[in-house]
Amino acid sequence: MSFEIGIILGSTRHSSNTSGLSNFLSRCLSSNYPLISSQIRRWSETVLAWDGMIILSPQYNWGYPAILKNSLDHLFHEWVKMPLSLLTFGGHGGSKCAEGLKVVCQGGMKMSLTDINLQISLPTEYIRGQDRVKGVEDWLNVYQEDLGLMIDQLISLMEKRKEE
Ligand SMILES: Cc1cc2nc3c(=O)[nH]c(=O)nc-3n(C[C@H](O)[C@H](O)[C@H](O)COP(=O)(O)O)c2cc1C
Repeated sequence: MSFEIGIILGSTRHSSNTSGLSNFLSRCLSSNYPLISSQIRRWSETVLAWDGMIILSPQYNWGYPAILKNSLDHLFHEWVKMPLSLLTFGGHGGSKCAEGLKVVCQGGMKMSLTDINLQISLPTEYIRGQDRVKGVEDWLNVYQEDLGLMIDQLISLMEKRKEE
């Protein structure tokens, strides 16, 4: 069961003791009861409003970026049964990043992963050079068909979930 406790500060004086005492009170509350920050609550509401999702992630040192793991780890129940597709990229399609995401999202968080997930290999100049993908490059066309299949599967999973 969760409760909302408002804390009203009775003084806003510039050099106030109330401010320090509110820190003391917040620390005491958070060490005894888990606090959900408003940002995490908004993140939770955002995710709960989705029927499915696509994680688009680069590979960083054979894994996926820490900021992505952090945003996943702030929630749990919201992820369970969430229809999911993975679109990873890197020099070799971000295959290690996809493996890691699969273990965490499908295994740990019980998301419902599509069988087809896309791995896009970036030309070297987009990694080592100054070029950055704009999304209209011809070399992306080879991924179009599989991307369509992946989206079709994601839609099927979302339909199935709505029927449950
Ligand atoms: C810290 C770091 C580590 C990377 N590690 C890998 C890697 O292990 N394998 C790979 O294929 N590409 C790797 N890359 C290349 C990235 O996948 C590629 O630069 C991608 O465009 C990064 O996405 P971003 O610019 O949107 O962050 C790495 C890039 C960075 C910045």
